[in-house]
Amino acid sequence: MTSRSVRTLLTMLAVVAAMTLTPINSVTAEATDHDGEARTVLITGANRGLGLEFARQYSAAGWKVIGTARKPATATALKDLGVRLVQLDVADAASVAAMTADLADTPIDLLINNAGMANRDGMDFETMDFDGVERVLAVNTIGPMRVTRALLPNLRAGKGKQIVHISSGLGSIEENTSGGYYGYRESKAALNMFNRSLAWNTKDEGFTCVVMSPGWVRTDMGGPEADLNPEESISGMRKVIDGLTIEDTGTFQSWNGTIRAW
Ligand SMILES: NC(=O)c1ccc[n+]([C@@H]2O[C@H](COP(=O)([O-])OP(=O)(O)OC[C@H]3O[C@@H](n4cnc5c(N)ncnc54)[C@H](OP(=O)(O)O)[C@@H]3O)[C@@H](O)[C@H]2O)c1
Repeated sequence: MTSRSVRTLLTMLAVVAAMTLTPINSVTAEATDHDGEARTVLITGANRGLGLEFARQYSAAGWKVIGTARKPATATALKDLGVRLVQLDVADAASVAAMTADLADTPIDLLINNAGMANRDGMDFETMDFDGVERVLAVNTIGPMRVTRALLPNLRAGKGKQIVHISSGLGSIEENTSGGYYGYRESKAALNMFNRSLAWNTKDEGFTCVVMSPGWVRTDMGGPEADLNPEESISGMRKVIDGLTIEDTGTFQSWNGTIRAW
């Protein structure tokens, strides 16, 4: 073996060793701002489903994570991540106010309005329960509006200035070719409209605000037949979020980097 091929071999071994030894929770470039400081993400509904996977992945990537849960006492999986846990019911003004007080002076770079629900009897317009429709609008539409407004001072203090609302393909009017899902569809279409206004009204301050479809994912809401596992959906969404620029503000993004029709 020549000395050159020995050097090449040693270089290859060093690369393989570095790849193997990189700890899962190493801080990635994505997790720090231009000054090298860790970024902070707040994720609503982080105790299970997509929110928990967001918390898991951002935490592993070295972000400071604030995860909210309606019932922190039972949010065991979220607690086990060692992230900051805050109580929050997005449909309860008092709960939102308490969170705001708790987080005073905490800059937030990225807000992910993930918490959401589906009204299960929404498939049949003639029998659906209007209380359920009101509830889904309160959680999926007014909730993100309430949380975003409450956290604007924190977001203004952060450098990232990114707001992501988890919407749904079911909120697309153009893609609605089957009907049903009364209540849920309207709640996400209205969320999309809220985001568009927010985007216009915060662009001068440097905010990037998007709605995002996570795909159909195997969570309690998505069910076991769904296309994607949470890891795939969240990895895709994190990649999209990381690549956003202010020119993307007001858009309807998909987990896989495509743009969804309104
Ligand atoms: N899974 C899918 O295929 C799919 C597709 C399109 C869009 N989405 C959207 O993705 C988001 C996450 O869905 P998921 O699949 O992860 O659902 P999930 O497994 O049912 O989890 C929903 C999360 O939202 C929380 N939540 C519900 N109501 C809340 C409230 N009033 N205040 C605060 N938190 C509340 C839940 O907390 P509790 O544990 O306390 O109930 C839970 O943490 C939702 O916005 C959903 O509409 C999901």
